[in-house]
Amino acid sequence: MVESRDRWSGRGFFILAAIGSAIGLGNFWRFPYVAYSGGGGAFLIPYFIALITAGIPLLMLEMSMGQMMQGGAPLTFRKIKPKFEMIGWWALAVGAIITYYYGVVMAWSFDYLWYSIQGLFTGEFPWAENPGGFFLHEHLEISNGAFDINKIVWPIFIGLILTWLSVYWIIKKGVVRVGKVVLLTVPIPFVIILILLFSSLNLTGSSNGIAAYLYPDFAKLSDPNIWIAAYGQVFFSLSVGFGLMYAYASYLPKKMEISNAATMTAFANCGTSFIAGFVVFSFLGYFAAVKASSVAGVASAGPGLVFSVYPQAISLLPFGNYGNAIIAVLLFACLLLLGIDSLFSLVEGVATGLHDKFSLTKKQVTLILCVISFFAGLIFATDAGLLWLDIVDKWINFSLVAVSVVTAFVVGWKWDIWKLVKHINSNSIIKVGKTWVFLIRWFIPILLLIILFGPPIPGIYEGGGVIKLMLEGYGGYSQWALWIGGWIPTFLAVVLGYVFMKIRSKRYEELTETEEE
Ligand code: PHE
Repeated sequence: MVESRDRWSGRGFFILAAIGSAIGLGNFWRFPYVAYSGGGGAFLIPYFIALITAGIPLLMLEMSMGQMMQGGAPLTFRKIKPKFEMIGWWALAVGAIITYYYGVVMAWSFDYLWYSIQGLFTGEFPWAENPGGFFLHEHLEISNGAFDINKIVWPIFIGLILTWLSVYWIIKKGVVRVGKVVLLTVPIPFVIILILLFSSLNLTGSSNGIAAYLYPDFAKLSDPNIWIAAYGQVFFSLSVGFGLMYAYASYLPKKMEISNAATMTAFANCGTSFIAGFVVFSFLGYFAAVKASSVAGVASAGPGLVFSVYPQAISLLPFGNYGNAIIAVLLFACLLLLGIDSLFSLVEGVATGLHDKFSLTKKQVTLILCVISFFAGLIFATDAGLLWLDIVDKWINFSLVAVSVVTAFVVGWKWDIWKLVKHINSNSIIKVGKTWVFLIRWFIPILLLIILFGPPIPGIYEGGGVIKLMLEGYGGYSQWALWIGGWIPTFLAVVLGYVFMKIRSKRYEELTETEEE
């Protein structure tokens, strides 16, 4: 006998958890910069179109499939056709790889939170003298190259332990606890963002920052690269392509509204990105004013923004040493809360996949995964960690797009997609129909293939991401490093998908039997 499936305490918890997954570091350190460099206010047009034509349709697809099939990604695909189970495992392998380094970014945030808390008592920050140098040389103790690995950096190691203990504790018991946790991890960062926003709006120069963020440059809209940036940002941001939304939705009863839930998730996520942009750019505007530089001179994205530019801006704030320390504490607490629910959603996706297939309890699966992720993450906690993180992150983004191409293709062409349409429409407020089917069958696969493999057209399109990487390499790293951190994990994820599909499972037989009863 199979135990009955775990359930959310209510649909609201599911939506909140999906929002928590979607809203992550990317909203804070990626969206504002992509928007700013992609035409400012004008970027909102391609972004919105990307959301409507690909982001929301795919999110609806993942959620409704998981709900309809009552399984994580592998079981869901298996119910379409046994050999497609492989796609589910592939998605989860990609998700698992992300957890290895996402956990390390959480660890850095723990460390910076700790430095900021110390600042509350001492009135000074360790990075005060030279924030960029502090981040690279004192915090990361960065070495001279990807293969120059000498040691584990202990503060990161400790942060990593804290991260994985939290994740384990949150998900080990199933989604009821997850529901309680997201009740805190979703609203609190939002409130912090508002506090940061109000404390930044009156600073000198903040309006210049916001003007730089939103000043519309409509000429950029004729550049296909900007459109592609918009689609890429939407996918990563909505957490589609990692197999986790199937898992979350599989803990909903079959008869429950789903398409509006997907739409709400998407808008909550994108709205948060938009607001985060105001915070980031008003601080950048202030920072530029103090340094007598331009906003362009200080704007950046990724770890550099959060762990170097921001700390520097904070130490220059006019709120006094202790006031500034409070802002720093708020900022890093916010990042931790933003990131943690994205991280555990990824783990939950993988845990669900394994728990569906193997005779292991949820607790056992979670424990195994957290331990593996912790150890796998250690490479990113070494003195060469940032370099590997950079490489792995770059490649993994292609895997997620590739997973989505295959998903759309299989659901659109290798199965009767109208069954899914019927499932969605029988429960949902927002009905889908021909347009949605067209997007899944044609538009999304073709567009994503261009994003991945499109040939470069001089002066117009810089070429699909994979083609560019093959032609130009990346970031000045050696080919060895790119193979080990980039291409090999990419292929390995597919191979793992195949291997896991091949393993026979008694539980699957039982699960499909109870289905037919
Ligand atoms: N959507 C998250 C962000 O914007 C990142 C993420 C990706 C989370 C994949 C989970 C899965 O930061």
